[in-house]
Amino acid sequence: MKIAVLPGDGIGTEITVQAVRVLKALGLPMELEEAPVGGAAYDQLGHPLPESTLKLAKDADAILFGAVGGWQYDKLERSLRPEQAVLGLRKHLGLFANLRPSIVYPELVNASTLKPEVVSGLDILILRELTGDIYFGQPRGIRVATEGPFAGQREGFDTMRYTEGEIRRIMHVGFAAARKRGKKLCSVDKANVLETMQLWKEVAAEVAKEYPDVEYSSMYIDNAAMQLVRNPKQFDVIVTGNMFGDILSDEASMLTGSIGMQPSASLNDSKKGLYEPIHGSAPDIAGKDLANPLGTILSAAMLLRYSFDAEEAAVKIESAVRKVLKDGLRTGDIYETGTTKVGTKQMGDAVLKAL
Ligand code: IPM
Ligand code: MG
Repeated sequence: MKIAVLPGDGIGTEITVQAVRVLKALGLPMELEEAPVGGAAYDQLGHPLPESTLKLAKDADAILFGAVGGWQYDKLERSLRPEQAVLGLRKHLGLFANLRPSIVYPELVNASTLKPEVVSGLDILILRELTGDIYFGQPRGIRVATEGPFAGQREGFDTMRYTEGEIRRIMHVGFAAARKRGKKLCSVDKANVLETMQLWKEVAAEVAKEYPDVEYSSMYIDNAAMQLVRNPKQFDVIVTGNMFGDILSDEASMLTGSIGMQPSASLNDSKKGLYEPIHGSAPDIAGKDLANPLGTILSAAMLLRYSFDAEEAAVKIESAVRKVLKDGLRTGDIYETGTTKVGTKQMGDAVLKAL
C-alpha cells in the first residue's frame, strides 16, 4: 500500500500525525511518504502543488491529506494560493467523486446546534461531483464590461458547465452507493434557472431508470439547503454538483455537531483516492494542540475501505473512534459538561489505545 501523506498547513500537520500513527498501528504492509502541499509547499518550493508532490501523489495508491490555507497567503495571485493544491490534485488525478458522509454518533447528539430528535441517528451521504462545474469551467476571468449600465467597469465572470458523461458517471456512483445503504437518492440541482442544471436533472432521471430498486427524487438547491436543517433524516444519498456540494456538505457537517468529525474521500474511476477531513486549516488554533484529529483518523478508515478494500481495518478504526467517544473524551469543538476535554495528541493516544 503506497500512501502519500500531504499534511499541508495550519492544523493539517497536527491532525495527519495522529492519523498516520493510527494507520501504522494496524501492522499492514504500508509505505508512507510525506511531501509539502499548500502554503507550506509555497514557502519551501515556491508553488502550492510542486512537481515533486504531484509526482508522489500520482505514484501513490492513496493520498492522506490534511488541510491547506492561511491568512499569510491571502494576497498571493490565484494560481499560487494554497487552495490551488487541492483543486490541482483533484483535476490532475481525475478525482471526480467526493464522498462526504454525515453521521451523528449517539454520544455527540447534544453537540449539534439542532434539536437531538432532528439529528439523532442521522446517517446521510453527500456525493459531490468534484472536477467540473463553475469551479473549472472556461471561460473565466475579470474583464472590462462592454455593455449595460456599468460598461467600462470591471466585470468578473465564470462558467458553469457539465457534460452528459460527467453527470452520468457521478450518478452511477451515487446509485451504486444508495443500493448499499438506504436505497434512496436525491439529486440536487437548480434546473428552474440554469441550463447546466436542466441537463443535470434530465440525465439524473435517465440514470435513475437503471436502478429501479433505488427510490429517486430531485430537489432544487435552495429547498435542499432548507430541508437539510428542517428534516435531515429524509435523505439517504444526495448527489449534486461541485459548487452546491461544497455548500451543502459544510451545512450537513454541522448537523453532526462539529465539522471536525467529518471525513471525506475523493475517488477516481480506478481505486485511487484522496482522503481528507472536510474542515480547513484553522490557522487560529494551529500549533495549540486543540484541533480534533477524528475527521482525519476517520478519513484514514475511508482510505483503507475505498482504495484497499481493507474493510476489516477500516471498521477497526471506526470502532476505536466510537469507543473513545463512548469513554467521554472530547476535543474542544465537541466538548460538553460531564465529558473530558483532551488535546489533539491525547485524542490520538486514546484512539491508538482503543485500537
Ligand atoms: C472543500 C474546500 C475546497 C473547495 C477549497 C479549499 C478549494 O472548501 O474541499 O470543500 O471549495 O472545494
Ligand atoms: Mg468546502
